[in-house]
Amino acid sequence: PAKYVDTSMHLDIHGVPMCPRSFNTDTINMGLAYIARPDDVFIVTMPRSGTTWMETIVYSILQNGRAFNEDFKDFTARTPFLEQHGGQGIVNMRRPGSIKTHLPLSIIPQHSQAKYIYVVRNPKDMCTSFYKFIKTMPGVTHSDVPFDTYFDLFIAGRANYGDYFDHVLDAWSHKDEPNVLFIVYEDMKKDIRSVIRRLAKFLNVDLTDEILERIVQVTSFDYMKKAEYNKHLSEESAGHLFETRTVVRKGEVGDWRTLMSEEQSRRMDARFKQTMEHIPELFTLWD
Ligand code: A3P
Repeated sequence: PAKYVDTSMHLDIHGVPMCPRSFNTDTINMGLAYIARPDDVFIVTMPRSGTTWMETIVYSILQNGRAFNEDFKDFTARTPFLEQHGGQGIVNMRRPGSIKTHLPLSIIPQHSQAKYIYVVRNPKDMCTSFYKFIKTMPGVTHSDVPFDTYFDLFIAGRANYGDYFDHVLDAWSHKDEPNVLFIVYEDMKKDIRSVIRRLAKFLNVDLTDEILERIVQVTSFDYMKKAEYNKHLSEESAGHLFETRTVVRKGEVGDWRTLMSEEQSRRMDARFKQTMEHIPELFTLWD
C-alpha cells in the first residue's frame, strides 16, 4: 500500500533519509557542525554492520585490553553517537574514545589527522539485520511494513540512512587516504586477530600478544551476548547502548536466507554487479 512508501515520513539530512521518531534534525546538524580534532576516531558504518562490535574493539585497544562491560558508564562516555548526541555530546566525551555515526563518510566532520574507521557488511545481511532490528522498535519508520516492501525501499535507497551502495562507494573512494581504514565485517568473522592488529597499528597502539588475546576474548560474540543479556537484567543501565533492545543478536554471515527470497537475492546481486563490479576487493563481501 502506498502509505508504506511515503518517504515524507523521513527527515532529509543532505539527501540521506532518516527516521523522525529516532532523530532530530537540529541535533544531527549540530553533530555535523562539530569541529573535528586530530585525536578524533570516527567509526562510520551503515546500521547493523558491526558498529557496536567495532566500538568495543576500539575501546579495548585504547584501554589496554579493558572490557566494555567492566564499566558501562565509562564505555558510554567514550562512545558518543553523532546523530543522537550532537556536537555537544562529542565535545563532552571522555577521551580517548570513538565517535559513532551512520552518516556517509563525506559529510561528517573532517580533519586531516582525525582517524576514520569504516566497516562494511554484505548488504543482504545488513538489510535483513536492520529489518529485524527495526521490527523491535514500534513507531520507527518502516517498522510496520512487510519485508517485501522494506526490501523494495532498501534497494531503491529509500530506507533509513539511504542507499547502501552510495554509502559504501563514498567510503571506498577515501580508502587510500592515510587516516582512513576500511574494514569488512566478513573479514572480522574470518580472522579477528589480523583485523585487531590492523586496527592497533592504525591507532598507533602497541599490543602485546597477551592483550591481543584478551581483546579477542572480551569482544567475541559469546562474551558480548552474555554481557548484553546481563546488562538488560541490571537496573543501573544509563547508557545509550545495550539498553533494552538486542544489538548483539546472531552475528552470522548468511542470515539473509531467513528472510530474503531467491528473486530478491538475485536483485541484490544485480545491484552489486552494477555498482561494484569494478572493485574486486569488495567481492569478499559476497563469498
Ligand atoms: P545480526 O543482526 O546479523 O546478528 P550494529 O552494531 O552495527 O548494529 O551491528 C549489529 C550486528 O552485529 C548484529 O548482526 C550483531 O549480532 C552483530 N554483532 C555484534 N557483536 C558481534 C560480535 N562480537 N561478533 C559478530 N557479530 C556481532
